[in-house]
Amino acid sequence: MTAQRACALSELEQDTPLRVVLDGKPIAVVRDSNDVVHAIGDTCTHGDISLAEGFVEGETLECWAHGSAFSLVTGKPLNLPAFEPVPVYTVTIDGDDVLIDPSATVAA
Ligand code: FES
Repeated sequence: MTAQRACALSELEQDTPLRVVLDGKPIAVVRDSNDVVHAIGDTCTHGDISLAEGFVEGETLECWAHGSAFSLVTGKPLNLPAFEPVPVYTVTIDGDDVLIDPSATVAA
């Protein structure tokens, strides 16, 4: 598989997650306050909740349902009740295109 266009960089507001689906995989794309773009699995590992509906704080994305905050860098939850990580995908920026390879996860 190769990287696919997920969205435009210009449509990503800082700290406002965007949910995309690539090859059937829901992915939360986040442009953090340092303009670094992250892509992690969008489904909270505690329940069937879209993490893109949650809150960005620094390099974490917090699930709104029960408050587990997932690292945008490692995918690991930093607090309970979730304890399983979400996948982290490699992001490539090409001009105004945000490219993500949904078949390749980053080893945490
Ligand atoms: S569903 Fe996300 S923390 Fe419970």
